[in-house]
Amino acid sequence: MCGIVAYIGPREAYPILIKGLHRLEYRGYDSAGICLLNDDIRVFKCKGKVSDLEAFVEGKNISGNIGMAHTRWATHGEPNTINAHPHFSQNRTIALIHNGIIENYAVLRSELKNRGYQFTSDTDTEVLVHLIEDIMISEQVAVEEAVRVALNQVIGAYAIVILAKEFPDKIIAARKGSPMVIGIGKGEFFVASDATPLIEYTNNVVYLNDEEIAIIERGKELKIKTIKNQSHSPYIQKLSMSLNEIEKGGFEHFMLKEIYEQPRSIFDSMRGRLHIDQGIVTLGGIRDYEQKILNAKRIIIVACGTSWHAGLVGEYLIEDLARIPVEVEYSSEFRYRNPILNEDDVVIAISQSGETADTLAAIDLAKTKGATVLGICNVVGSSIARATHAGVYTHAGPEIGVASTKAFTAQVAVLTLLGLLLAQKKGTLPNSEFHKLLLELDSIPAKVEQILLLNEKIRDIATIYKDVKNSLYLGRGYNFPVALEGALKLKEISYVHAEGYPAAEMKHGPIALIDEHMPVVFIATRRGIYEKVISNIEEVKARKGKIIAIVTEGDESVKNLADHCIEIPDTEEMLIPLLATIPLQLLSYHIAVMRNCNVDQPRNLAKSVTVE
Ligand code: M6R
Repeated sequence: MCGIVAYIGPREAYPILIKGLHRLEYRGYDSAGICLLNDDIRVFKCKGKVSDLEAFVEGKNISGNIGMAHTRWATHGEPNTINAHPHFSQNRTIALIHNGIIENYAVLRSELKNRGYQFTSDTDTEVLVHLIEDIMISEQVAVEEAVRVALNQVIGAYAIVILAKEFPDKIIAARKGSPMVIGIGKGEFFVASDATPLIEYTNNVVYLNDEEIAIIERGKELKIKTIKNQSHSPYIQKLSMSLNEIEKGGFEHFMLKEIYEQPRSIFDSMRGRLHIDQGIVTLGGIRDYEQKILNAKRIIIVACGTSWHAGLVGEYLIEDLARIPVEVEYSSEFRYRNPILNEDDVVIAISQSGETADTLAAIDLAKTKGATVLGICNVVGSSIARATHAGVYTHAGPEIGVASTKAFTAQVAVLTLLGLLLAQKKGTLPNSEFHKLLLELDSIPAKVEQILLLNEKIRDIATIYKDVKNSLYLGRGYNFPVALEGALKLKEISYVHAEGYPAAEMKHGPIALIDEHMPVVFIATRRGIYEKVISNIEEVKARKGKIIAIVTEGDESVKNLADHCIEIPDTEEMLIPLLATIPLQLLSYHIAVMRNCNVDQPRNLAKSVTVE
């Protein structure tokens, strides 16, 4: 969703801001804008891509060593130039960029209108900049105090940056519910929605907390206070991310790069946790909560999208291995449905970005009801990582492609480790079984490597199906979440309608869709409920559906029925999602490329969904 970047220091701000916007493009957006400040305060903005903004500013005065820039993902008001950020106050002396939603904007807007303010855009954001100016004028206060007073009147989520003509050496930034990080360089500061625009300049960062305001002044120390006017010392952290992790590294798309990174990312998610020699699993981040989980009456997993699919795999794993009841909920439903929760429950929030608004709200709800809340996050220092009592990082590395790939397999790997850890502590698994699983898990990165060698074959299959309008993905047991994930990947990046179903549910409705035009992707690996899935394949074949099957190496039964078989190495049933997902990612990728879709930034989608 919206991306924010700002700079103050000795260098020209424009190149830093534009590069920063490019780094944030992956978040998803529909318009872009920039504000530069020296003697004058200048705003340039337009609908479209950052490259359109670059073309638009050509020949204009873009000098200044303080500035801010924004990519907007439309919520209130259509994606056009007027609604793009930055927004000016009425006197055009203050400019503001915003990520989030001001929920009480309608009330504030009508009050400001009554006081003579005119609105040029349809956004909720414009309310805030007029309000700040109104407070500055009526209460005769400096900009940071006006921001503080204004934020006390606001309901909703925000990450904002403000520049004021009167204060040419100052940036004010604040957050609540939307992410914001400040980079501290030598005599310069950077502000951004995430660390990607900062890492080539500095490793020292401060993550703003909810309801904190940063006062960033040239030549001075960073100051932080809350909207209740309490000063805080900034907590400076070191980033461990490297620049080449956020670049394409020779791949045509980030998504493809990230698919190919999976042998490494799965390995990294298990490194220092899976100890084959000692025959144990450790998860340092939740060590203090192990007993709590072992005694839990229930584990409730909350997540959205792909992370929710990983949660489903987690449900099967933890129940199978550790015999603890698990429920998996969409964060967006959980937060609004008055769930029954108590102190014996453990809630696990799963999120790649660690910024998903619904998951954050689900965490808040669970905490207020007394549950222990743990996180499984990819982005280090993210809001969810900080909002939970404890947690485990997936260590998949930055995921830039909007379609989640390596984050999913890393989440599943961590959930497998968690299931194994709980099983060992609870004694729910015979030792021999436990060790067999450890060894098999250890071999997964090499098996993923083997699957990636099938890329050309999968590309050929994509050529045949690139023009289809609909598709079905079917699997059972551990392969049901894989089917859901395969369908989500296809629909989000290629805009082909795809449905994932438990294979046995086919007869309860979806079978009506099957004819000679309908491709059906079966995840039909030999372990698990294999024979029954073969019966489902027969049923599709009888109705002339086209069958693409993910099968276990050496399979002969499905080969005789399917139009195309993709063979993956054999593994334990509960580890199949770590392998079977990979060919489905590649299939979606190639279909999307062949349909000329923007694979890394699919239409309407945002990488981290920071509004509900
Ligand atoms: O960052 P999160 O894991 O919390 O994000 C959840 C979903 O928004 C995300 O998985 C989304 O479904 C992806 N586009 C899937 O590829």
